[in-house]
Amino acid sequence: MRILSGIQPSGQLHIGNYFGMMRSMIANMDRAELYAFIVDLHALTSVHDRERLSRGTLEAAADFLALGLDPERCIFWVQSDVPEVTELTWILSTLTPMGLLERCHSYKDKIAKGVAPSHGLFSYPVLMAADILLYQAERVPVGKDQKQHIEVARDIAIKFNNTFGDTFVIPEPVIDENLATIPGLDGQKMSKSYGNTIPIFLPPKELKKRVMAIVTDSRPVEEPKDPDKCNLYNIYKLFAPADRLAEVRGLYLNGGAMYGKIKLELLDLLIDKFGPAQEKRAQLLADPGRIRDILHQGAEKARAKAAITIDLVRDRAGLKY
Ligand code: ADP
Ligand code: TRP
Repeated sequence: MRILSGIQPSGQLHIGNYFGMMRSMIANMDRAELYAFIVDLHALTSVHDRERLSRGTLEAAADFLALGLDPERCIFWVQSDVPEVTELTWILSTLTPMGLLERCHSYKDKIAKGVAPSHGLFSYPVLMAADILLYQAERVPVGKDQKQHIEVARDIAIKFNNTFGDTFVIPEPVIDENLATIPGLDGQKMSKSYGNTIPIFLPPKELKKRVMAIVTDSRPVEEPKDPDKCNLYNIYKLFAPADRLAEVRGLYLNGGAMYGKIKLELLDLLIDKFGPAQEKRAQLLADPGRIRDILHQGAEKARAKAAITIDLVRDRAGLKY
């Protein structure tokens, strides 16, 4: 089984990214042929700042490694180190109906949030299709917001196969319904572009500020409440041990849930869970040369795989004369 997923180096890793994608990628290391990468070319659709992008790429790599990704047991690289992906993007774009891209929510959402509507932003899903098809990925673990992009990749692969003969594996999204959309501080989907995230690698003081900023209602403590409608509970339940979670659930249902206390408990749980990885991340970032070596070695492996597909694609499309 070939499993592949990527993350943009466009901001701090948050708990939505962790549960939506990173955790299941790391867990799949021994069960699958795993392809994990940092999509810097995608990030260029929203980040035009040399320092921020290059630093973000090293940080995203450190995030993955600190959380347990072992580059010996997977292929781990930076998207732009395999230029074949842009060639495949062009070839696929000639088969991509405009209507397919015009229907993509993510383009409309990003423009509504103030991202400049460039051609690259519009054709973002074609580059993502190329990412997936170039490595003949079978499964793609993502959060729910990326489901439509995987459907686009499937449609493009089917169109190519129908036009030029069987070439691409048709990828399947892997979405854990319980973790498909982690809520942010304000209850909307947690996202870097909404400014409502809980980044997992923050110094404790800053982390505390974020946790305390989780929006809750102002009803009295003793009033019974529906835990499933409470944003704080929906974040807390991701981290709390089962017995304590059952107790807190009872407090919501019967009255007596104290938001301030639950927030402080959540803060401790976050520090316990991510503290050790945070130390490891700091050590990794102290030696960026080592991170670059790991990524370059990964790119060599990825490029060898990409070469096989691109050769086949060129042949099928009539580019080998
Ligand atoms: P963001 O929306 O914060 O910019 P990315 O687009 O970099 O995040 O997403 C990286 C991965 O994390 C994707 O697979 C995405 O689906 C997943 N993801 C992002 N936010 C969430 C969330 N709130 N809940 C679940 N998964 C998420
Ligand atoms: N678009 C994805 C996101 O914003 C990142 C991404 C790019 C990706 N290429 C991919 C995810 C290929 C899975 C597979 O989160």
